[in-house]
Amino acid sequence: MQINWDELKAAAIAAMKNAYAPYSHFPVGAAALVDDGRIVSGCNVENASYGIGLCAECGLVSNLNMTGGGKLVAFYCVDGAENILMPCGRCRQLLFEFSAAGMQLQTVSGIKTIEQVLPDAFGPRDLADGFGSDKRG
Ligand code: THU
Repeated sequence: MQINWDELKAAAIAAMKNAYAPYSHFPVGAAALVDDGRIVSGCNVENASYGIGLCAECGLVSNLNMTGGGKLVAFYCVDGAENILMPCGRCRQLLFEFSAAGMQLQTVSGIKTIEQVLPDAFGPRDLADGFGSDKRG
C-alpha cells in the first residue's frame, strides 16, 4: 500500500493544533493511514488531574474505531514544533493492538516498523481467544 508521508505529516500537524495541553504546554498530534486508505488522527487532551491526561494516540485509536475500525499501516506523530515525536511506551502498546503486520512509523532515527519499536510485544494473539482487534476481520 502506497504511503503518502507528506499527507500523514499534515494530518498530524492539523491534529496537534487541536491539542489541549494547558499543563505541559507540549501539544502533540498523531495521524495514521488505515488499511482501507482513510486517515485517522488524534491530539493530546490533558486534565487538571494531571495523571489522567490522554495522549494523542488515545484519540487516534478512538477515532479509528469510531470511523469503522481497520488496521493501521503507517503512523506519524509530531510535537508543537512539528518535529517527529516518538510514541511513549504505553502508546506503542495502544498502536500495536490495531497495527497491520509491519506497520511503519516515522521515528527520530528513520522509518521503523511497530515490531522494531515494540519488540516481542504482548498482544491479542497472546490471549486465550486470540481475537482482540482481529475480531473485525
Ligand atoms: N504525549 C502524547 O500525546 N503522546 C506521546 O506519545 C508522548 C506524550 C503527551 C502527553 C502529555 O500531554 C504531553 O505529551 C507531555 O508529556
